[in-house]
Amino acid sequence: MNLSAQQLSQFESEGYLFLPGAFTPPEAGLLHTGADEVFAMQREEVWRESSGVARTAFAAHEYHETFRRLGRHPRLIGPVMQILGGPVYMHQFKVNAKAAFNGEVWQWHQDFGTWHRDDEMPEPRAMNIAVFIDDVTAANGPLLMIPRSHRHGVVSATHDKQTTSYPLWSLSEEKVTELAEQGGCVAPTGPGGSVLLFSSLMVHASPPNISPLSRNIVYLSLCHVDNHIRRFQRPAWVAHRDFAPIQALGDDCLTELAVPHAA
Ligand code: SIN
Ligand code: MN
Repeated sequence: MNLSAQQLSQFESEGYLFLPGAFTPPEAGLLHTGADEVFAMQREEVWRESSGVARTAFAAHEYHETFRRLGRHPRLIGPVMQILGGPVYMHQFKVNAKAAFNGEVWQWHQDFGTWHRDDEMPEPRAMNIAVFIDDVTAANGPLLMIPRSHRHGVVSATHDKQTTSYPLWSLSEEKVTELAEQGGCVAPTGPGGSVLLFSSLMVHASPPNISPLSRNIVYLSLCHVDNHIRRFQRPAWVAHRDFAPIQALGDDCLTELAVPHAA
């Protein structure tokens, strides 16, 4: 999958690009099964909300075959290599749950703010590409973004270790208001299998999910290999240290999994 010149310029101008239905319903179904399996694991990489439901499974591409393949999927790696202009490695991989009734808030933040301050990633030559596992609607805690906020570089933030189980460098309400006066605020919604690309400088957040519908999304955070992190204070399963370029698999690498192989 190649992005067109128009899509590339939209990403550059707005800081994000939404591709509804980039993965088929059967592919999204495989991801859904995989997410259920991963969230049922008792592992240090699976972080939980105060209620005990899963919040995030870090590094699932290292211990679940479906996610191992998704982490090398050409429909994800190809567009990101186009945008970042060269080979990429996986800086972070998360399956985020946002469980029905119990999924908690993600405060306003920029991912590069955390990667730069905590991991010493030199430049914002890194980005996110997310795959909706479930349908994401206005009701179930969609990702909120401030279009064009990526043009402001790293904005001031404070380290929030209190609000949720995941510490984040988060922005003040004043700063978010100021940015939204220029860019507005959007919540891309669409069916499971949709893909959302966004800049590592994009200001984003998500509200709690009190709906009866779960909202699983998987995030690949990819970084140009030349721009790898310099500091290793966070666990390797939060901020990876394998800087080898990702070699993409074939386009049918997920559905192949569902086909029984001859012995
Ligand atoms: C994130 O910002 O990294 C995750 C937000 C979400 O999944 O809602
Ligand atoms: Mn984020």
